[in-house]
Amino acid sequence: MSAIFITGGKPLYGSVRTQGAKNSVLPILAATILCGGPCVVHNCPDLLDVNTSIRILRHLGCPAKREGAGAVAADTAGMNRFDIPEGLMREMRSSVVFLGAILSRTGEAVMSYPGGCDLGPRPIDLHIAALRQMGAEIREEGGYLYCKAPKFTGCDIYLSTPSVGATENIMLAAARADGTTRILNAAREPEIGDLQDFLNAMGGRVTGAGSSTVTIEGVRRLSGAEHTVIPDRVAAATLLSAAALAGGDIAIGDTRPEDLATVLSVLAKAGCDISEDGREIRIRRDGALRPMGRICTMPHPGFPTDAQALVMAVACRAEGVTMFSERIFESRYRHVGELLRMGADIQVEGRVAVVRGVPKLYGARVCATDLRGGAALAVAALAAEGETELSGLQHIDRGYERLEDVLASLGADIERK
Ligand code: UD1
Repeated sequence: MSAIFITGGKPLYGSVRTQGAKNSVLPILAATILCGGPCVVHNCPDLLDVNTSIRILRHLGCPAKREGAGAVAADTAGMNRFDIPEGLMREMRSSVVFLGAILSRTGEAVMSYPGGCDLGPRPIDLHIAALRQMGAEIREEGGYLYCKAPKFTGCDIYLSTPSVGATENIMLAAARADGTTRILNAAREPEIGDLQDFLNAMGGRVTGAGSSTVTIEGVRRLSGAEHTVIPDRVAAATLLSAAALAGGDIAIGDTRPEDLATVLSVLAKAGCDISEDGREIRIRRDGALRPMGRICTMPHPGFPTDAQALVMAVACRAEGVTMFSERIFESRYRHVGELLRMGADIQVEGRVAVVRGVPKLYGARVCATDLRGGAALAVAALAAEGETELSGLQHIDRGYERLEDVLASLGADIERK
């Protein structure tokens, strides 16, 4: 098993660009099913999760492959299956976003429940209830979902919590439904806007993404389209946290600063000097890190749960107390045990974590327990004294395109062996 070895203590300098948004690519690749034609999606990062989506498309009878720099070409004309094997469902929880698209295209779908529970329970009850409301018959038996939907009918769907995946699944099911669907209390994450843009590029009629009401007017036909996905705000937040903790002066290109507003304001509070120039964010830090007060994760535009572990790594070295309150997932502090091995002072009680900054972190053997928690350990190691050996890379590779190479290009002493 390979590991990443990091020797801390080197500030970061230079410029990098942000990879395309993983959380956009997955629903967009699922959406290609709806048009039954050729699509090209640009700015797709080379990640395990994207490859899993490509394998799902191929399994369904849709040739899909990487083309040139960062593009994925998929032709869904010859789709001839409506099931997703359990192995693929277990590899990536978000494969459930294929459900609305497969049902809309074929009227039938069979898939297992998505596997794993890294962040505590991740139910899909909102997805199922919404699709039922639109006319699907869904039988749940032996860990499998057997679904039939000869047609979807548009309606008003109220989400009790603004679930990103449920909003996307409904958009996919509604794009070719009879009539108009309105999602009330919809997720407002930027990736919803990206999916809206792709559906509209295929000839769909979707409005309201970014607000809490998304309206989808069903159309009879969609056709193949070309689209470039938005930058990955969590990958950008990772680099921002890395520079905040290691110190130095870096410029991150191809970002959308507006998607990162809460993360930027928290890091500014920590003492970072942050400036924006169009799509570039520059972050500098040479003074002491200050505590960041109280950080509550919230649905967008609140502070993102995906950045919680990353900013916690920064808080570990701040001169004072930072308090985190995780409001989205029940169990998203699995990185804490590993940060403690590196000398951090963190106390967790339920959904609250109290971080008291320490003067030094130390290199240690640590293991990524989930995607963002794993990246947070790499970030912490950049500022630790001595060498850190970080294993569990299968989690990190799900969401980062060669994280170690990006950090090495900024001057970090980091290598995968
Ligand atoms: C997406 C992101 C993930 C991010 C999360 C929250 C992708 C591929 N993943 O995950 O990186 O951390 O949004 O911003 O885009 N819930 C229910 N019932 C449901 C669905 C969700 O109770 O049917 C709850 C979840 O348990 C959780 C909350 O809603 O507490 C938010 O989950 P959701 O927004 O659905 O997250 P994902 O779409 O899985």
